Amino acid sequence: MKIAMVGSGYVGLVSGACFADFGHDVVCIDKDESKIERLRSGVMPIYEPGLAELVAANVKAGRLSFSTDLASSIEDAAAIFIAVGTPSRRGDGHADLTYVYAVAQELAENIRTPTVVVTKSTVPVGTGDEVERIIRESGTDVKFAVVSNPEFLREGAAIGDFKRPDRIVIGAEEEWARGVMREVYRPLFLNRAPILFTSRRSSELIKYAANAFLATKITFINEMADLCEKVGGDVQDVARGIGLDNRIGSKFLHAGPGYGGSCFPKDTLALLKTAEDYNSPVRLVEAVVKVNDSRKRAMGRKVIEALGGDARGKRVALLGLTFKPNTDDMRDAPSIAIVQTLLDAGAEVVAYDPEGMDAAVEILPEVTMAASTYAAVAGADAVALVTEWDAFRALDFARVKSLMNAPVLVDLRNVYDPTEARAAGFAYSSIGRV
Ligand code: UDX
Repeated sequence: MKIAMVGSGYVGLVSGACFADFGHDVVCIDKDESKIERLRSGVMPIYEPGLAELVAANVKAGRLSFSTDLASSIEDAAAIFIAVGTPSRRGDGHADLTYVYAVAQELAENIRTPTVVVTKSTVPVGTGDEVERIIRESGTDVKFAVVSNPEFLREGAAIGDFKRPDRIVIGAEEEWARGVMREVYRPLFLNRAPILFTSRRSSELIKYAANAFLATKITFINEMADLCEKVGGDVQDVARGIGLDNRIGSKFLHAGPGYGGSCFPKDTLALLKTAEDYNSPVRLVEAVVKVNDSRKRAMGRKVIEALGGDARGKRVALLGLTFKPNTDDMRDAPSIAIVQTLLDAGAEVVAYDPEGMDAAVEILPEVTMAASTYAAVAGADAVALVTEWDAFRALDFARVKSLMNAPVLVDLRNVYDPTEARAAGFAYSSIGRV
């Protein structure tokens, strides 16, 4: 079937390419002409492992194309996905739905054949009702339905997450619309990915509840890590010990510098706003947001402590800047608050990241970007491992130590074993371990 994907960013481009790989005919639409031109010439606007190959194969097979013209691209589309950005609104944390509603209005003016309009962007509860109102009040006499179909893609693993989902969530009121969505996801349905059909509002809330719960789980183990440092426990053993309980599960229990990215920070805030709007506060998530925000600067102070409490004039090398490995995304990365804390304390900061430096240089102009891991650590009074890229998992300790001014290693992702690091001559500190 023909599918139109409005928005060719992290969600729209991955989803569109995967739908094409299922055998559907997909047009990815974007207002950004340069982005569409780059996509047409095979240049990806985002770093996502495997995406360039997936796009190229489906463009070659004639199943995937790109356009800036929404009106012509949606002709005869059985489903039109809205996958545009819903960033946090400046200042108050509500999701900014400007782009979603603009697409809804444009669809209202241009749909000519029966279609299902699908909100794939993460949108607050009730947005589907508003999209439906916008289209209905435009006076169109074309049969349409508005459906919620949130994505659960992790950056750096998005294609795998799309093709092997734990579940597909469809929020649809009309049976015919559910039928269209079954066809859209037939390839996954056949390989037994469970499809949960529910109401539109439940589907919208499932997305926020999932991300808020995952953010809560991470924040919980981060606070257990702080307690471990005080009582002399090992947070990795604590995580393993509770994770073996299948009611808890072992995933998302890696203690670190706090969660970042384009989703958890934005979605937890948006959930708080929805709860506030409906006068049903989610106090647990309020605490998670507060704890996570303060944690990132606390990590900067942890590096200062490793320097003996005074960072003035000291050179600190950061290994990793992106909010997680296998992405170039710097949005709400813990490194941003860590750098600010170190600069405020008078330190000089050098950094290396395999993919994130182009984005980081815009956000962190005072940081010296190094050409490699070992160039970054040269002359450093301390090295902090901030993002657990594979490139940082087998450092040549002797070489690092010989290049550094002082052998201080702060491992914010517990990549290394404390005994081994200390045996190699480092003053080693990490998260939730002594
Ligand atoms: C997340 C959700 O996982 C995904 O389902 C949703 O669709 C989008 O948001 P993403 O933000 O890409 O995906 O990254 P994720 O792998 O979830 O990590 C988010 C943050 O949590 C990162 O900063 C990561 O470093 C941190 N994290 C994750 C931890 O600190 N500990 C963990 O155990 C897992």
